[in-house]
Amino acid sequence: MTKATIDDIDVAGRRVLLRVDFNVPLRDGHIGDDRRIRAALPTIASLRHRGARTVIVTHVGRPGGHVDPTLSVAPIAARLSELLGAQVGIATDVVGSSAQAVVEGLRDGEVGMLENVRFEPGEEANDPQLADTLAGFAEVFVNDAFGTAHRAHASTEGVAHRLPAVAGYLMARELEMLGSVLENPCHPLVSVLGGAKVSTKLGVITNLVKRVDTLHIGGAMACTFYRAQGEQTGRSLVEEDQVEVARGVLDAARTAGCTLQLPVDVVVAEEAVEGAATQAVGWDAIPEDRMVVDVGPATVAAITATFADAGTVVWNGPLGIYEIDAFARATREVAVALADSPALSIIGGGDLGAAVEDAGVVDKIDFISTGGGATLELLEGRVLPGVAALRDRQPVAG
Ligand code: 3PG
Repeated sequence: MTKATIDDIDVAGRRVLLRVDFNVPLRDGHIGDDRRIRAALPTIASLRHRGARTVIVTHVGRPGGHVDPTLSVAPIAARLSELLGAQVGIATDVVGSSAQAVVEGLRDGEVGMLENVRFEPGEEANDPQLADTLAGFAEVFVNDAFGTAHRAHASTEGVAHRLPAVAGYLMARELEMLGSVLENPCHPLVSVLGGAKVSTKLGVITNLVKRVDTLHIGGAMACTFYRAQGEQTGRSLVEEDQVEVARGVLDAARTAGCTLQLPVDVVVAEEAVEGAATQAVGWDAIPEDRMVVDVGPATVAAITATFADAGTVVWNGPLGIYEIDAFARATREVAVALADSPALSIIGGGDLGAAVEDAGVVDKIDFISTGGGATLELLEGRVLPGVAALRDRQPVAG
């Protein structure tokens, strides 16, 4: 059953509590990457256009229930005002007198924002009293915070049981696109998984191995798989305690008929630092005194070759140490190839969204998830509490 959205509910003249995930990188009050803010604009625009009085709530960072001025939402509200071309009223607290004043002062079509909801100790504890107070601010709850949907917090889950609760457009699209990978993908279904650690991706790998036709493994975690096959990996990062687990994944792929491809070549360096001399070597020839920093050109060719006739490609995690420009080459080249491929292309969150932006191909990728942990949990096949609490769309009688 799909979830009801803002299109299924009357919001004109009503107060709407809108949970978004504006957990964006902030440094000295400056926003490093505003993609999560831009991604929520269609929902906010629709609410404004339909005359809702919108009260926005988000968390930023992990202040742990204490006020931390460096994690104030003030710069975010300012950026949102710019993007909307309209003033966003800002409260200096979450549920205190300032919040009350902002909520009560809203007129039809106006937008206000509460302070960082994680300044309240009750948020992460999913405290019923905090959920009651937040619910008291509105007549409708809209959850557009896909990136936080895996957290059962007062402003994501608790409040959804106290008001008519529906999904915003971003939430609905995330569920539709990521859900399509698991439920009714267009085959061949190809997955590319990168990142440093098998341990953080194990749930996704285990779930995808049963569903995808081809699974490419890249990033440093490939080294743990090499070790599972008895190969040497020099000074590369290897999770020794996951070697046996990796062996189990290789077996599971064989049983499921999934083609699991490890990098056939890798780029190695003495140190993972900018300017280090690099060399591409075969997967079974990693020198003892070098570490893997990226996948090699033959691997890029092998990955992109499978895009040619793929129906769907889902990709999570960079293929090299993306923060260092020289080791981001394979990630960028694969992003460009994916953008040019006819497959439905879905990119799962985190650093990879920024990588695709750097590669200049954002507009040619079908969907880039705004989630990090939430995207992984959904692809693991887990139920996200922030989603489960939303209303199901009623079937149309006919
Ligand atoms: C994220 O950035 O993944 C979300 O905003 C959730 O943040 P959290 O991991 O601090 O709950």
